[in-house]
Amino acid sequence: MEIRPLTAPTAGHRTGAEVCGITLSHPLSADDKARLNRAFVEHGVLAIRDQKLAPRQMADAVGNFGMLFQQHNTRFALPDCPEIHYLSNQDRFPDGRRYIPGEGWHTDHSNDVRPPKATALHAVTLPSRGGDTQFANMAAAYDGLPQQTQQRIADLMAIHVYQSSHSARKLMGLSDANRERVPNAVLHPLVRTHPENGRKSIYINPIRIEGILGLDHKEALPLLDELLEHATAECFQYRHVWRPGDLVIWDNRCLLHKANGDYDMAETRYLYRVMLQGDVPR
Ligand code: SIN
Repeated sequence: MEIRPLTAPTAGHRTGAEVCGITLSHPLSADDKARLNRAFVEHGVLAIRDQKLAPRQMADAVGNFGMLFQQHNTRFALPDCPEIHYLSNQDRFPDGRRYIPGEGWHTDHSNDVRPPKATALHAVTLPSRGGDTQFANMAAAYDGLPQQTQQRIADLMAIHVYQSSHSARKLMGLSDANRERVPNAVLHPLVRTHPENGRKSIYINPIRIEGILGLDHKEALPLLDELLEHATAECFQYRHVWRPGDLVIWDNRCLLHKANGDYDMAETRYLYRVMLQGDVPR
């Protein structure tokens, strides 16, 4: 197995590594599993090349990194393997508009008390060009903040909901059954410490954050915009150009990500998605 960084270091952090020479459809040796888990924490994004995984095999493969998390909107669950959801550009909102999953910077399911530590996607059908996934390294972005801003946000708590009323991106609605098990609102720190490497990260989510505890919107919204603009500067990014067979897994504790709906919508982009259980952000 070879693990190669995909970007140069920024503020002492690297984002993204590609992994070649491993087959995830078979059980891994203890050494390979430990190496992959170390690489995941070090690089934040792993692009594991040349896989061909059926849904159950993908669930088992990603299980090498942790316990599976029950995703919130079960309308996307695969009937034969509900732990795996699909992402497709062929879905539509009830009013007929096309739904592009994952557009706009976000971190997954931050409205959960214990948001998923990781998300993995496996490419099933890709457009002939475009549809990249961008990642922004929130630990590097935190280190790059002026000290004054670090101090200003150190103890702030953000209110996360399923769908922020400030978000330009609209999500597909939850069924009644899903709404019952998904929390209405949770508080998470604006700065969280990675439980495995101890690094601090900015923890924001434009799609889910409704406000900041103790600040009125006039103060909170410009602060969130300023943090987002800083954190998504190109120097903190890794942009993943998908190849057939890629399995990409990323660390939601220290990254934002976004999909790009920049390709011909007559072409299909269809991926399997699974998430792993995480901790309470601290
Ligand atoms: C996601 O936000 O989980 C999807 C990202 C993508 O489709 O590239």
